[in-house]
Amino acid sequence: MTILITGGAGFIGSHLVRLFVEKYPAYHIFNLDALTYAGNLENLKDIENKSNYTFLKGDITNEVFINELFNKHKFESVIHLAAESHVDRSIEDPLAFVKTNVIGTMILLNAFKNLWKGNYKSKLFYHISTDEVYGTLGQTGLFTETTSYDPNSPYSASKASSDHFVRAYGETYGMPYVITNCSNNYGQNQFPEKLIPLFINNIINNKSLPVYGDGNYTRDWLYVKDHAKAIDLVFHKGEQGETYNIGGFNEWKNIDLVKLLCAQMDEKLNRPKGSSEKLITYVKDRPGHDLRYAIDASKMNKELGWKPSVTFEEGLSKTIDWYLSNEDWLKNVTSGEYQKYYQKQYN
Ligand code: NAD
Ligand code: TYD
Repeated sequence: MTILITGGAGFIGSHLVRLFVEKYPAYHIFNLDALTYAGNLENLKDIENKSNYTFLKGDITNEVFINELFNKHKFESVIHLAAESHVDRSIEDPLAFVKTNVIGTMILLNAFKNLWKGNYKSKLFYHISTDEVYGTLGQTGLFTETTSYDPNSPYSASKASSDHFVRAYGETYGMPYVITNCSNNYGQNQFPEKLIPLFINNIINNKSLPVYGDGNYTRDWLYVKDHAKAIDLVFHKGEQGETYNIGGFNEWKNIDLVKLLCAQMDEKLNRPKGSSEKLITYVKDRPGHDLRYAIDASKMNKELGWKPSVTFEEGLSKTIDWYLSNEDWLKNVTSGEYQKYYQKQYN
């Protein structure tokens, strides 16, 4: 089987590419990635020479290039992760999110449709999406697969839009698809613009920890390798035309999560208890900040037997250990452009 994974040089994509390349030697995995600021081939050094793996550099918004690629390699399945993925950047530059997340997805859908022309036996277009499409919850309740879409940020609006197009191609053209909407991921190789790796990097460097608003926002957190395993299950056993919510059964208020992270960092860095917490600084809130995301992942559990394999404390500890033993990775991605982004976002 030839599988195209888009965005495979990014955070979740790199874990997924590795899982598939190692677990399925009979599949050929093509990883298509534009290598934006968030894409990094260092994430895949250990598998880059495997015979069932090919990296393709390119942009999903380049229609001519994408059509040529589909005609050349005849991808039987697509697992589509390439996206602009950071909410704060979407507030600064919403159009970039429409280009990649909406138009890029459309270009892939068209290329897949034009290649197979209705002959969809053993084919699948799998769209990786987010729980943020459902908008925000109050203090109670959970997002289920039937919760109405109600996106609040340009990022979530662009992901909601692309989900709708994937579903529409299923209904209109009979294209076999599946969509999963996952909660916040954390783990090795996450770009340090998202909460957990940003704060790990700042603690290492004794920089302040910018908590937005009062810190009482709630997210559900899932270890990235558990997300990759869930994608594997849905890809092989999920029902076509279905959507599945994936979550960690693991809700944390930001401020409580940050305090846990600080405590683990103090211990691992042999710093006196309480030193990292002193770096916490409450800063101006994110506009349109969603109060709470929480996932009901019972469909994944009941129908596919999936559940997360690590507790949050274990996953967080493994994550911190990885960043502490990969300082070069962290230094490389936080030089240059990152400094400009940081100044603009936090000053
Ligand atoms: P990421 O930002 O780490 O990686 C995105 C990857 O896509 C990068 O390698 C980047 O180079 C590539 N890319 C961006 N624009 C491209 C383009 N135009 N053409 C080709 N490649 C391009 O993102 P991530 O956190 O790994 O998220 C992956 C997917 O999972 C996204 O679709 C995101 O919406 C979704 N998701 C993420 C989370 C999360 O917590 N990180 C949760 C749920 C869903
Ligand atoms: P983030 O990692 O950006 O993920 P998302 O916005 O997709 O949930 O943010 C997670 C939470 O942490 C969110 O409530 C915003 C908050 N946050 C901060 O308080 N400070 C920060 O510097 C960042 C990046 C996020």
